[in-house]
Amino acid sequence: MVGMEVLVVGSGGREHALALGLSKSESVSVVHCTPGNAGTSMVAINHGVLTTDIEGIVKLASDLRVTLVVVGPEGPLVAGLSDRLRQESIPSFGPHSEGALLEGSKIHAKMVMDSLGIPTGRFEKVEDLESIEGCLKSFDSPWVIKRDVLAGGKGVTVTSSRKEACEALRIGIESDGYVLIEEHLSGEEASVLVIMDESGFVMLPASQDHKRVGNNDTGPNTGGMGAYAPAPVATPSVLTRTREEIVEPMHHYLRNSEIPYRGCLYVGLMIDEEGSPSVVEFNVRLGDPEAQVTIPLFESDLGEALLAAAEGRLAETDVEFRNVHASTVVLASEGYPGNVISGRIIEGWDSAIDEGQVLGFTHLAGATRAESGELISSGGRVLSTTGIAPSLSEALEASYQIIQGINLKGSHYRDDIGFRALR
Ligand code: AMP
Ligand code: GLY
Repeated sequence: MVGMEVLVVGSGGREHALALGLSKSESVSVVHCTPGNAGTSMVAINHGVLTTDIEGIVKLASDLRVTLVVVGPEGPLVAGLSDRLRQESIPSFGPHSEGALLEGSKIHAKMVMDSLGIPTGRFEKVEDLESIEGCLKSFDSPWVIKRDVLAGGKGVTVTSSRKEACEALRIGIESDGYVLIEEHLSGEEASVLVIMDESGFVMLPASQDHKRVGNNDTGPNTGGMGAYAPAPVATPSVLTRTREEIVEPMHHYLRNSEIPYRGCLYVGLMIDEEGSPSVVEFNVRLGDPEAQVTIPLFESDLGEALLAAAEGRLAETDVEFRNVHASTVVLASEGYPGNVISGRIIEGWDSAIDEGQVLGFTHLAGATRAESGELISSGGRVLSTTGIAPSLSEALEASYQIIQGINLKGSHYRDDIGFRALR
């Protein structure tokens, strides 16, 4: 396939990375994005349909006669966007709504894992305020409490404080009718993004996100404050075990479901000291900011690979990765991950590094262009600065060199991204 037009759905840094990767694909002639952001507008044509407007996106894809739709976030997948696109015979990279339940319902994901014998933490569903005390006794501290709602990684409380744990359980029960308490898994996390269809799967180089807002993994959970790839914690032996104990059983289960799973299965791993991987969570899409550090590692044509998965012929497609390192550091608005202050001018975001083997540039996320041409913050995670280099330390150096030159009042970023790999 050459000269295809692709529509990317979403408006974050992940979608900027997707649009950029697709725009560099030989197979792709035009990239569209909806609704996109100021970053996607530099490499794609932005459209005004929001990710909540499923019928609007289907109509846009039909009107544009795109060859492929690539769905970034989970919301439209859970809401059935891929189901509707397939009814219109438009290939979609992203699972149907039933497949998306792996992310949409944590209980469903746990039950699937239990039925397949996939390693993951023990859990209990808590429905009564009266049973809170008993639950806290049957799990050891630190307690892990998860609301079963789509919360962008922010609906999870991990705490050694009994008071905080009680509070999280109470809030969950009162808001949603029930909440989950889960065995605490210790070790080091990694994200393995798996492109999958019924014919086969491809594991992308493992990456590592940094979920907590502050240095040394302190403060509340966020959507992700920075990432790098490949992550050395995912040794060849860990990756073999991940493939055999998690990805293969999941692929077998999903390929045999009534409608095949075509898209990305994001495997959030906890790797313990012995190198045993357990699943912390599944997501049904590329991670953000993991996409910003894995998409640049594609050696093969990204458009071809995503189209092959959307058409169920991934097994015929060779997907290769470059032997380089990538890092990205998120710049967040004042207040993130709590109440965010938006609408401020961002300066210095467009500087880039191009020194042959070392590249540095900015992936924009919650940033829009004002009529005056200025870039204005419009969300929690505003942008991330990405470095690509022969070594992780050089990639990080590029990321930090760029972020240090950016000016956004009240913003913050972590200055220890990659610390586990550099240790
Ligand atoms: P989730 O939304 O399920 O990915 O959870 C967000 C973050 O909370 C994860 O990336 C982990 O850092 C932490 N977390 C979730 N579940 C557990 C667990 N069972 N044990 C330890 N940490 C966890
Ligand atoms: N970075 C975590 C996620 O995308 O869920």
